[in-house]
Amino acid sequence: MKFFIDTANLEQIKEARDLGILDGVTTNPSLMAKEGITGHDNVMAHYKAICELVDGDISAEVISTDFEGMIAEGQALAKIHSNIVVKVPMIKDGIKAIRWFSDNGIRTNCTLVFSAGQAILAAKAGATYLSPFIGRIDDMNWDGIELIAQISDIYAIQGYSTEILAASIRNPLHIVRAAEAGADVCTCPLNSILGLLKHPLTDIGLAQFLADHKKAEG
Ligand code: E4P
Repeated sequence: MKFFIDTANLEQIKEARDLGILDGVTTNPSLMAKEGITGHDNVMAHYKAICELVDGDISAEVISTDFEGMIAEGQALAKIHSNIVVKVPMIKDGIKAIRWFSDNGIRTNCTLVFSAGQAILAAKAGATYLSPFIGRIDDMNWDGIELIAQISDIYAIQGYSTEILAASIRNPLHIVRAAEAGADVCTCPLNSILGLLKHPLTDIGLAQFLADHKKAEG
């Protein structure tokens, strides 16, 4: 499973990259706003800065909701860097845009996915990535991981090449369960990635090893 970091924060992106396990970055308009990145030129410059930090797929989301607008925005985003993946919402014009981008050699990430039916449509349209939002489904008292498993089964049976990108990750267990359910990629906040490191027995064991070493060395 590939690891993407889900943030527009350059320091956090660097920290995850320096772990040596990072395959890409996802952003969305809320994450950009959280970093105070506003205005077309600043947004484009920020995507460029992310592309310069990480050699991997970088999702950049369109704001338009009509076909023509999405195509124009997506083309401009794709020109920033060859690693840009255009993030398109799961709406009717979004599906048409994904088909157009796919036919014109521009890679896409279909976002805001909450059902298997939407996953089938996105794959048929030629999406490169599909982003089911696990955490937001869990927040509604449904099971986000169950959706990942269902889509994973459908894509295997049908031979679809769209990669399942588990998004809206809230904790380290989501990452483990997404891997188990067949996600190809998991995009995670830095805290969830770092949370994978934690186990009290590791800390206790390391303290013991170091104490024994110190005693033996006098
Ligand atoms: C990433 O591609 C998604 O936009 C993001 O994971 C959504 O996460 P949230 O539900 O925590 O906002």
